[in-house]
Amino acid sequence: MSFNSISKTAKKVNSFLLSSLHGNPEEIYKAASYLIEYGGKRLRPYMVIKSCEILGGTIKQALPSAAAIEMVHNFTLIHDDIMDNDEIRHGVSTTHKKFGIPVGILAGDVLFSKAFETISHGDPKMPKDVRLALVSNLAKACTDVCEGQALDIMMAKSQKIPTEEQYIMMIEKKTSALFAAACAMGAISANTKTRDVTNLSSFGKNLGVAFQIVDDLIGIIGDSKITKKPVGNDLREGKKSLPILLAINKVSGKKKEIILNAFGNSAISKKELENAVRIISSMGIETAVRKKAIQYSNAAKKSLSNYKGSAKNELLSLLDFVVERSQ
Ligand code: IPE
Ligand code: IPE
Ligand code: MG
Ligand code: MG
Repeated sequence: MSFNSISKTAKKVNSFLLSSLHGNPEEIYKAASYLIEYGGKRLRPYMVIKSCEILGGTIKQALPSAAAIEMVHNFTLIHDDIMDNDEIRHGVSTTHKKFGIPVGILAGDVLFSKAFETISHGDPKMPKDVRLALVSNLAKACTDVCEGQALDIMMAKSQKIPTEEQYIMMIEKKTSALFAAACAMGAISANTKTRDVTNLSSFGKNLGVAFQIVDDLIGIIGDSKITKKPVGNDLREGKKSLPILLAINKVSGKKKEIILNAFGNSAISKKELENAVRIISSMGIETAVRKKAIQYSNAAKKSLSNYKGSAKNELLSLLDFVVERSQ
């Protein structure tokens, strides 16, 4: 995937997005735009825009939803870093580390509510029922994300090792719900038929699962210089991610002891955590994990079989990027 294509739309999204994030007290708006200014791939707004374009809509029609999705995404990132005890994202201190937990929570809340303000005003030419459909889709996705995040936290606390199906169910909610909403909202913004909304939403849902599987992989075997977030934290937090599940099921003997000692151990030393990560990296689970991601990417591809044109090709390239990525 050429990043150029994403950055071209990202520029338009950024200016729309950042211009909405002003107000008083300034501190919470600074905190709300902080991570956005330091980085982020803007994948979800890209999907809103391309899902609108694939159905003949314009970027202008898609822009309010694109900005709203990125606001919600950043709301989830800020709160997620509090829940996950993470200190670095986009190569800088996480929002709550920089501004404190109370301002971090409020910055997330303001992003959440601004998102809904943005789509309910929307493009003034957009019919009211279209705006209502956008609000309803985004609201449902937010509920799913909260349920998924709760499952993620509960699974991390539990000693039980979940099945692969339980893991997939959890990531469908915490991550892929927002990708599905991004595509559905792009389709709705194009003022299209229900069947198109379903197709695009299904594309986003499957892409989202593939995305999170790969994210969990590079959270263990990735390069933190590229991902700009630390590796190994999922292991320390006891997260039941697919690469960790596969590693625990496969390893034995002394190596298993080292991994299990790091698993869910917040007091683990940096060196011991690195050692456990090194063992997992050497186990050859990458192929199995990427294969799983490819399955979902293939399912996503099928949802676009009725469409053609450049936006379709861009969405297909995005799929390749998602499964191959190391960033
Ligand atoms: C990170 O998403 C959160 C997950 C769902 C894994 P992104 O990788 O898309 O976040 P950006 O690019 O930093 O915004
Ligand atoms: C991703 O959470 C899902 C949300 C942020 C809702 P993770 O905890 O798996 O993602 P990273 O690794 O912190 O980006
Ligand atoms: Mg996290
Ligand atoms: Mg998390």
